[in-house]
Parts: sequence; C-alpha cells; structure tokens
Amino acid sequence: MRLRDDPLVLAHPASAACGLVRFECGLGSRGHDPRNMPSGMAAPTNQQVLEALSTIQDPDLGRDIVSLGMIKDLAVDPSGRVSFTFELTTPACPVRDRFKSQAQDAVGTLAGVTGVDVRMTANVRPAFMRPKPSEVLPGVKQTIAVASGKGGVGKSTVAVNLAAALRKSGATVGLLDADIYGPSVPAMTGSRTTPEQSSTGQLLPIDAHGLKVMSFGQIYPGDQPTIYRGPMVGKAIEAMMTQVDWGRLDYLVIDLPPGTGDASLTLAQAVPLTGVAIVCTPQDVATEIAVKALQMFRKLNVTPLGLIENMSWYVCPECGHRHDIFGHGGAEAAARRLGVPFLGAIPLEESIREDADAGTPVVISRPESAGAKAFTEIASQVAARTSIQSFRQLPVINVR
Ligand SMILES: Nc1ncnc2c1ncn2[C@@H]1O[C@H](COP(=O)(O)OP(=O)(O)OP(=O)(O)O)[C@@H](O)[C@H]1O
Ligand SMILES: [Mg+2]
Repeated sequence: MRLRDDPLVLAHPASAACGLVRFECGLGSRGHDPRNMPSGMAAPTNQQVLEALSTIQDPDLGRDIVSLGMIKDLAVDPSGRVSFTFELTTPACPVRDRFKSQAQDAVGTLAGVTGVDVRMTANVRPAFMRPKPSEVLPGVKQTIAVASGKGGVGKSTVAVNLAAALRKSGATVGLLDADIYGPSVPAMTGSRTTPEQSSTGQLLPIDAHGLKVMSFGQIYPGDQPTIYRGPMVGKAIEAMMTQVDWGRLDYLVIDLPPGTGDASLTLAQAVPLTGVAIVCTPQDVATEIAVKALQMFRKLNVTPLGLIENMSWYVCPECGHRHDIFGHGGAEAAARRLGVPFLGAIPLEESIREDADAGTPVVISRPESAGAKAFTEIASQVAARTSIQSFRQLPVINVR
C-alpha cells in the first residue's frame, strides 16, 4: 500500500510536503527555458532521466535511488516535461528535502527538459519475509521495541513520542504497552478506555492521537495490581500480538518494562522484531546497565537499532543556562564503543513530564519545543534504521 493512497495520510498536514512538487526549469543557471531551447531539441528518453537520477545515492542504504526501486511512474512528454514519483522507504525520512531537490536538479539540468514534476511519497518496506499469512502481526511492517536496562529512564516517554512523531510524519502507527506491572501508556496518551471486541472476538486498540494503542492498563484498569508468574507474562504478551486486531500498520512501537525479564524474552522470541532502541540516561551507571540490556538483545538475535540518551541536558528557564544534570554524552560514547548507532539525545524538560501526565505527547502539544524536535529527529533516525533492516532482508526490484 502506498501512503499517498491512504486518506488519513492525505488529510494530515505533515504529509503536505509529500505532494506534487513542481519545478520550472529555465531560471538562472539551470537555463532550460523552452523559449531559449534550440528548435528541434528532443525531450530526453526515460533511460536518460533514470541515468541522471541514478547519480543520487541513499546515504543510509549506500546505493543509488534508481537501483533501490525508489523511482516510479516515470513519464516524459514530448514537450520535455518530466514527471515521476520518488518513493521513500519511510515518510519520516531524514533526508527527504535533500532528496527532492537533488532529484529536481539532476533531471532539470538534462538537455531538452522543460519542467520537472516530482511526487514525493513513502512506502514503508516490511522488515520480514512472511511465508505464512497466519503468522503473528501479519499486517505490521515494522516492529520497534523500546527497552532499557534500568527503570525510570524514560522508555515510555520515548515510546509514546516516537510513535506520535512517526504518525505525524504520515505513517500508520500502533503503540503496544508491554509493561504488565507498571503500564503508563494509557495515562501518557489519554487512552484509559476499555477496549471493545471485534465481531471475530479480537480486541480493538484504542485510538489516541491517531495511534492504535493497547495496554494491560486498559484491560485491567483501576488500582488492582496485575499478579502474574513468569510464564504467564509471556502468555499475556503473546496474547497482545495474536488476540488484538492491529490491522495494517507501518510501525508498531512496543514499550517494554525495565530490564531483561520475561516480557523482553518473550518479545524477542515470539515476535518478529525489526530491532530494539535502548534508552538510557547519561550517567555511567545507567549506561553500563543499558549496555547489558543491549547485549542481551544481541544474544537473542534482536538487532540493536541504537542508543537514545534521555534527560541529556536541562535549560534553566530563569537564567537560560544549560546544565548537564546527569552528565552528558555517556550514551554516545557507549554507542561508539559497542558499534551501534547513536540515535539522539533528549533534554530534560518540565513540559515533557507535564504533557505526559496530561495525556498528550509533547511532539503533538508543543511541536516547536526543543524536546519535541529531539523526539522528531530521533524518530527519523529510528525509521532510517528500520529501512536499512528491510533492505538487508528483502530483494530489491530494479525498475530498469
Ligand atoms: N526528558 C524528560 N524530561 C522530563 N521528564 C521526563 C523526561 N523523560 C521522562 N520524564 C518523566 O520521568 C518519569 C519516568 O519516565 P517514564 O515513565 O517514561 O520512564 P520508564 O523508563 O518508562 O519507567 P519504567 O521503568 O517505570 O517503565 C515520568 O514522569 C516522565 O514524565
Ligand atoms: Mg515505562
């Protein structure tokens, strides 16, 4: 399914940038004003346009955009107007604007071109080949777990804002709170409603801020604790995959409980995970524990998508001075040491906590804040890592 066909996506303001972009040649150095064209200059062939576009490299995938199958619906009309679709691997692509202008420039400077129409779209590629349709999460393309070694470092805050940022970019996104004992996603997303059942008996996720949200906190509301022995935790997590109607999703973000216990084990073994993002604070101690968590996922063959440093700095609202309360840069150093990507750092901001308590992720409530921008940037990085995973596993169709 292409995102441009999705009415939800088309209605979303963030996806307006993916619409048809018209680039008129003939100004300045591009010099292809048809009025100045020598009479009889022929429009380029499709092959010539593809050759020009194949000079553009995807920095993450390390290949050119044509052989990666990103150029679709190419047409050149006799007057020299060229149109094509540039299909990104994620609507949260960090180099989307650069790609757009590179494509316009590459084609616009070809002899005989009088104009270029580029339609920017996105089609999230599935991370796994699925030989059997009955597998868990059949309609979900990418599953992203958010974990940590230590409790209270901001996993749920990151998971909620990551999901919201991906949704804002135009993707269809689910958010699973896999924390049985301390579910916080219903409060952070304002989705404390009891899920209803579909006609087939499956639970229907709650819609919150355009996300499909499911949590044990919705199934067992109130202040009664959930008392489960280890094996029951695994069964309960599995049920969240098989007995919930997730439908078709580009991304399912999974908020894990702290540590490397039963929930993480079940998830790693029973669910086709694209990878795991590890959240930590900059303190050495916290980071060492994060490293252990990362190594555990590696042992279980779950790909580490990278490390995220939360509560990285604080800007005093009174004096504007920046304080590195828990130190700074610990996660980046650990990522370098481990050979995994550093996905970004998030400031400690009162508004992040306030908005989480009020049930709206800060990327939605205060998109201009430093915190929201940090989450959005991290979401782009995570999406880029999941695209890399897909291209490692799937054959690529060459359009030539
Ligand atoms: N960057 C931040 N700035 C301000 N407050 C934050 C930030 N990150 C998290 N918090 C707050 O810190 C508290 C703990 O965060 P959160 O619940 O996300 O951590 P967690 O790792 O999921 O915890 P647990 O291990 O219990 O699941 C929450 O009150 C949250 O609002
Ligand atoms: Mg949590």
